[in-house]
Amino acid sequence: MAIEQKMEKIVGLCKRRGFVFPSSEIYGGFAAIYDLGPYGVELANNIKKAWWKNMVQENENIVGLDSAIFMHPKVWEASGHVSGFADPLAECKKCHTRSRVDHLLEDINVFADEKMSEEEINKLFGENKDKVKCPSCGKSDWTDVVKFNLLVQSNLGNFTSDWTKDPVYLRGETCQGIYINFKNVLDSARVKVPFGIAQIGKAFRNEITARQFIFRTREFEQMEMQYFVKPGEDMEHYEQWKARRWKFYLDLGIKEENLKWHKHEHLVFYAKEAYDIEYNFPFGFKELEGVHARSDYDLTQHAKFSKQDLSYLDPMTNERYVPHIVETSVGVTRIMLAAICDAYDEEKNGEDERIVLRFSPQLAPIKIAVFPLMKNKPELVAKAHGIYEELRKTWRVEFDDNGNVGKRYRRQDEIGTPFCVTVDFDTIEKDNTVTVRERDSMEQKRIKIEDLVTYFTEQIK
Ligand code: GAP
Repeated sequence: MAIEQKMEKIVGLCKRRGFVFPSSEIYGGFAAIYDLGPYGVELANNIKKAWWKNMVQENENIVGLDSAIFMHPKVWEASGHVSGFADPLAECKKCHTRSRVDHLLEDINVFADEKMSEEEINKLFGENKDKVKCPSCGKSDWTDVVKFNLLVQSNLGNFTSDWTKDPVYLRGETCQGIYINFKNVLDSARVKVPFGIAQIGKAFRNEITARQFIFRTREFEQMEMQYFVKPGEDMEHYEQWKARRWKFYLDLGIKEENLKWHKHEHLVFYAKEAYDIEYNFPFGFKELEGVHARSDYDLTQHAKFSKQDLSYLDPMTNERYVPHIVETSVGVTRIMLAAICDAYDEEKNGEDERIVLRFSPQLAPIKIAVFPLMKNKPELVAKAHGIYEELRKTWRVEFDDNGNVGKRYRRQDEIGTPFCVTVDFDTIEKDNTVTVRERDSMEQKRIKIEDLVTYFTEQIK
């Protein structure tokens, strides 16, 4: 299937079936922002639950945090974002579309280094810009490149009209909230190095180009874990985290052949090592998650700018040091897109064709759908409703009596529901059993109503 075709189908399915809606659609949309629909929010919640369990619940030395979106503006000076968090931008002189120059160059197999100065990237772009076509109008007539800062500004707490001189920022990454709470956590949570702080929360970036659906948005949710370790022990922890993060995706049911490692060749000056886990999206292998060895840069910078002591005193050895950090960082909707692409399948059975999202039961937004065979038979409806009430005490379950059973199966296949339960006349008249239909094999078996909870407990681990 062609790239555009597969993406178009996925975007269409996400809208049609209530996973992802373009933001503010009734007003014509709002670029690079998306809303999650009824099934999208379930999928996102399942991803977040799996991550939180994997990080916080299953590790005795990782604790959670929920820091605020707004922080003191000095945080972003200390982190280097105010001076250095910028992407190269050029504008098409014909249609005025703005594009990210490193992406335009990538499309013609020229690779810019993200550390390049404005002058350097202008030179590289100048050498190639005749070959670069505007993605909107196809012309090659470009302005010079400017480096555009990605931090989103706000007037929060500033009641003057010239607030842009003194802005505050919506956080560009969640981890800064972790660094500035390092001391608070240390003093309150009885943790000892090595330990980690995990956080899930919104981040905002003025991304120049809004391409590839929810892959890159201006408002997104990050799941970041910062692991504080003794200097000299960081690379050992780094390797362990690389292995653990890889396994996380396999445990979610992502196909291993669609994952690969990408080593960063051009590291920022303080980083010791940086790898991305890439996923094979319909538009190619692209970054899913970053695993970074960040040295002591973050705590050192915040100590310097805040004039606070952010060192750690080892209670066993009495050694004092600034911990080094191993970071794992990923976007919720990026995993969502990977999970949907990975699960998407079109299947032909003779004349019949179906679209199916083969999510693992853990990720599936709805675990079980319950149907009465016919809508106009009150005894079937009442029985099915009773089963639905019972199962939804434990799982996210849907009741559906619309249209015929075939149509209901199609709908559940498209939202990735692993099991459908149908109540028919045999249920009532014969043996109190129901049909359980499995999504992938489409096999059906009869199970006693009283055994359903045990059966699904086993299946939906
Ligand atoms: N604290 C490190 C950090 O933020 P990053 O590589 O800029 O590093 C980490 O971002 C992860 O956050 C990415 O791997 C991606 O999953 C997600 N992410 C970054 N920008 C995003 C965007 N504009 N839209 C959606 N997800 C994004």
